[in-house]
Amino acid sequence: MASLVRSASLRSLRNGGPLLFHTTLRKSLTSCPQTQTLRTFSATMSPPSKAVVYDQQGPPDAVTRVVELPPVQVKENDVCVRMLAAPINPSDINRIEGVYPVRPEVPAVGGYEGVGEVYSVGSAVKDFSPGDWVIPSPPSSGTWQTYIVKDQSVWHKISKETPLEYAATTTVNPLTALRMLEDFVPLNSGDTIVQNGATSIVGQCVIQIARDRGIHSINVIRDRPGSDEVKEKLAKLGADEVFTESQVRVKNVKDLLANIPEPALGLNCVGGNAASLVLKFLRQGGTMVTYGGMSKKPITVSTTSFIFKDLSLRGFWLQRWLRTDKVHECRKMVEYLLDLARQGKLRYEMELVPFDNFHAALDKALGKLGSQPKQVIKF
Ligand SMILES: NC(=O)c1ccc[n+]([C@@H]2O[C@H](COP(=O)([O-])OP(=O)(O)OC[C@H]3O[C@@H](n4cnc5c(N)ncnc54)[C@H](OP(=O)(O)O)[C@@H]3O)[C@@H](O)[C@H]2O)c1
Repeated sequence: MASLVRSASLRSLRNGGPLLFHTTLRKSLTSCPQTQTLRTFSATMSPPSKAVVYDQQGPPDAVTRVVELPPVQVKENDVCVRMLAAPINPSDINRIEGVYPVRPEVPAVGGYEGVGEVYSVGSAVKDFSPGDWVIPSPPSSGTWQTYIVKDQSVWHKISKETPLEYAATTTVNPLTALRMLEDFVPLNSGDTIVQNGATSIVGQCVIQIARDRGIHSINVIRDRPGSDEVKEKLAKLGADEVFTESQVRVKNVKDLLANIPEPALGLNCVGGNAASLVLKFLRQGGTMVTYGGMSKKPITVSTTSFIFKDLSLRGFWLQRWLRTDKVHECRKMVEYLLDLARQGKLRYEMELVPFDNFHAALDKALGKLGSQPKQVIKF
């Protein structure tokens, strides 16, 4: 056992292992007569982890607190990761609120995606080394903490050339955008899609992936101060048309469109009246896919939409899609998306916030300060 531990620590040193690991090890070697016991401890335990924990479901700003969790054992197939960044997504909020259909048992650590750096590995782990950048793929609960220990199968190594905030945010929203463009209606270059919630990360990704494939996009945003600036930003990402909700409350929306064909696919992030606006644009036989309910309002569909336009209503849920044993496919798609991000073909607005300001970032993500960029915690 002693030689195993020694070779693990030597391997860590050879790979330029983390300073804290060696500091702990050195302290234990110099200050304690029971050197062997402590050396074993420091080689197989994680550091303590600072984490956003909730003991019960409820309003996230009321039930979450930042606490220090004790070290955990790094077993032979485990990888201990020092988290670098993780976003606050609407579904993270819904999980804490207790309104998401699948949620971790409480007490739980928040967060579902992110990026980290390998800190140490179990004795049977061959494919990861300290310093590697990894993401949980498929995403996995508990990313709002400084150190995570999970089985090596959870982690996917990614290029360190990836901008940090994109590495932290690709496995949920960009992946959803990609799947919805591929899974419901065959789309070719020259076709059109329509969406509401176009300012969301999913919406911004839809615009850019569509543009990369020669597909036009019609985008609906909320009425708000500064909407002209928002329209310009989305146009720069490749949006063909951007309308506020009030602009499309006209009898014939087709008169608003220049030379782009009527869309066969509509994407609904919002629900309520914003969903009806998407339906208005759809062509005969078109499909609207609902993936978000940001307004928390139900969708109302006119009888004529069904009888005379034969519209179809579908739904998409990434977590259901991921359940069907798609780890390999999922990682291939994540690589495709990260590559687009590295090439600058996939961009979206984010704000990196130090972990110490977690609750200020949470307030922004909860919409308390109006429309805000995606909040990404930097550990
Ligand atoms: N089904 C799935 O598998 C899946 C996967 C990923 C995401 N989602 C869902 O997709 C949606 C967008 O996620 P995201 O992370 O991309 O969003 P995000 O970047 O955090 O942006 C939030 C979006 O929601 C809009 N919004 C906020 N409050 C609203 C309200 N009360 N009424 C109408 N619009 C409102 C914002 O509009 P402003 O810019 O005007 O503030 C913005 O467009 C969420 O509902 C999320 O749960 C679902």
